[in-house]
Amino acid sequence: MREILGLRRTRAAIAAGAAAFFLCGLLLAAPAYSQGLAGRWAASGKTMENGEVPKTILDIKQDGNNLSGKLTGLGYGVDVKGTATGNHFELFVPEWDMKKPLIVGDLVNGELHWTQWGGALVARPATAADEFPKLAYLDPPALHKVPNNGLAKTPPMGWNSWNLFAEKVDDKTVRTMADAMVSSGMKAAGYIYVNIDDTWEGVRDAEGNLQANHKFPDMKALAGYVHSKGLKIGIYSSPGPRTCGGYPASYGHEAQDARTFASWGIDYLKYDWCSAGNIYKNDALQPIYQKMGDALQASGRPIVYSLCEYGMGSVEKWAPEVSGNLWRTTGDISDTWESMMANIEKQVPTAPYAGPGHWNDPDMLEIGNGHMSDDEYRVHMSLWSLTAAPLLAGNDIRTMTETTKSILLNKEVIAIDQDPLGKQASPVKKGDLETWVKPLADGSVAVGVVNLGSAAASATLKSADLGLGGSVKRARDLWAHKDVKFVGGAYTATVPSHGVLLLRVSAK
Ligand code: GLA
Repeated sequence: MREILGLRRTRAAIAAGAAAFFLCGLLLAAPAYSQGLAGRWAASGKTMENGEVPKTILDIKQDGNNLSGKLTGLGYGVDVKGTATGNHFELFVPEWDMKKPLIVGDLVNGELHWTQWGGALVARPATAADEFPKLAYLDPPALHKVPNNGLAKTPPMGWNSWNLFAEKVDDKTVRTMADAMVSSGMKAAGYIYVNIDDTWEGVRDAEGNLQANHKFPDMKALAGYVHSKGLKIGIYSSPGPRTCGGYPASYGHEAQDARTFASWGIDYLKYDWCSAGNIYKNDALQPIYQKMGDALQASGRPIVYSLCEYGMGSVEKWAPEVSGNLWRTTGDISDTWESMMANIEKQVPTAPYAGPGHWNDPDMLEIGNGHMSDDEYRVHMSLWSLTAAPLLAGNDIRTMTETTKSILLNKEVIAIDQDPLGKQASPVKKGDLETWVKPLADGSVAVGVVNLGSAAASATLKSADLGLGGSVKRARDLWAHKDVKFVGGAYTATVPSHGVLLLRVSAK
């Protein structure tokens, strides 16, 4: 969950968003009921960073104690269901895996007072003035193959603002983060991209050019600063009219926005489906992503293209056709063992589709954000490297502990991720132990054994199972930074609970 627009929301809000935004345009025509809970209610949220005041529209039908309806915000739209007890009501989002109601409220003097994502909202019967602007439906283009942009021959490495800063990212944060990328050794270790995620957006000017909001007074100057450090800079948008955070996005402005990004000196674009799901069905994913793929190439600037649509529509099968360099395979990660492991498991079926220039992305790193143990963060780094995932740090690079540094800056582990062969390892599970083997360009293999159990366990690796084609010449423990010995073709070690043994093994 993230604090945004004065409310807390989950990424699922967006993945689940199909249809509601658009349908709401039609539903708006229905008259507002003035009695009971049923009706169409509109609440204003906290003023956004670009000066806009976001609306939340709740459309409820009541049948006795049962409530059903739709909740629509600027960047999302979802079905809700719940119950009423007198004037009190609670609403859940069935598509989200939520144990608690999203909305809890009361009818008070003809107003709905509710809390949602920790924020308090007051809604009144909606009027025509509350309507979301109607947008022309733009037909998805015919499919064609967008030429490969030649970028990201190894998985992109860098930093992204979202996991820790969310809407608090600003020019100063990015500059100081760029400084820290250099002083901490992150740049030297290969972390090159400094990526601004959602909430940088302002409004469009009279010519339709998207401007940054007050937090980013001069995006071109900021890009120049980041470049002056020998780093590259990334930005974020959506193919829908709004980003997940509700900010203006690239719908109908694809070519113009790509030119704007190029003129600022942007090197990387994360393009997040969000409210596009309220306009298009999944069969439009490829043509809609193709639109921006074309636009980026027409901009004349090499820009890494990062697709973010949470793995819908078998993205791994067509993303390279739209010149995608990486694509999310999952919903949003959070800083927990369960979330991190769920994301990496979801990435497993996509293994055959990873390779130089095009990577599966199980989301950004949480290492150093404080809610997992050091062992768990070592598992995180090991699994992302074994699966050739992009390594985009999501912590505060300026204040890393020595342990966090030892994890993010482990060059021997980074070398597994950045191996030029670009193979994505797959797991074999035996009891609580999961073994991942990744073939490497020099004929050696990386092998990771993760202990999913709640107690330390003994793991035995047999050289015959590693696909080495010979007996072991050298085996190195990449977290202990020491060579180890296979005896009689086997190596046994204790792996802590939620910990990992990671070896690089070469054959004679
Ligand atoms: C979605 C993405 C996240 C982040 C937010 C920003 O949830 O999946 O990674 O970009 O939007 O609003």
